[in-house]
Amino acid sequence: MRILLAGATGTLGKAVHEALRARGHEIVTASRKGSDISVDITEPESIRAMYEKAGRVDAVANAAGWVPWKPLTELGPDDVLAGLRGKAFSQVELVRQGAASAAEDASFTLVTGVLSRDPVLTGSMASLANGAIEAFVRAAAIELPHRQRINVVSPTVFTESMPAYGEIFVGFQPVPVAAAARAYVRSIEGRQTGRVYVVE
Ligand SMILES: NC(=O)c1ccc[n+]([C@@H]2O[C@H](COP(=O)([O-])OP(=O)(O)OC[C@H]3O[C@@H](n4cnc5c(N)ncnc54)[C@H](OP(=O)(O)O)[C@@H]3O)[C@@H](O)[C@H]2O)c1
Repeated sequence: MRILLAGATGTLGKAVHEALRARGHEIVTASRKGSDISVDITEPESIRAMYEKAGRVDAVANAAGWVPWKPLTELGPDDVLAGLRGKAFSQVELVRQGAASAAEDASFTLVTGVLSRDPVLTGSMASLANGAIEAFVRAAAIELPHRQRINVVSPTVFTESMPAYGEIFVGFQPVPVAAAARAYVRSIEGRQTGRVYVVE
């Protein structure tokens, strides 16, 4: 398959790239810097240009997303909008635009995380965006045209990210990022739709 992978240069994206390449797929990478296609997924016009450059793809996988991490009482309205834009609006836009240009049986695989079901301090924007995307995936699965499919990978914290996030996720059992990458393979090569693949 020809697969467009957004966020390909990150911790998760590199592992997904490796897992998909090992399965023999052709990967077109995208991110703001250092990929085949330069894209900012928070900007609809940038997404439009990305799909135009990528041409027909059989699958779209996203491993990019950003939210502010702040105590609830310190969040301002701009933080809330930035969190929604960085991880929810951006992924909805990838699907909304991609549905028109991807193959008739294309799949979309998005990313959320454990905080939709198990919150931590300072993580309310991540919880908000993750919950929104998991609900969106269930809804989009019954509305996507043709035989297109959509799933989301919802991992707990990665072992590889514990040096950065260990204090926030204290007491959590991390998983190797390769386990989350395998869920992308399952979503892309399988036939399921509307699924939240919990990896923990
Ligand atoms: N790390 C974890 O333990 C963990 C666990 C569960 C879920 N997640 C979720 O997995 C996703 C990826 O996490 P990660 O740790 O792999 O992040 P990361 O290492 O910071 O990588 C992020 C990737 O996305 C790209 N990116 C960021 N903002 C972008 C934008 N606006 N437009 C296009 N590309 C953008 C980055 O490249 P550029 O900066 O060049 O654009 C990079 O390729 C996030 O949604 C995160 O919440 C992570």
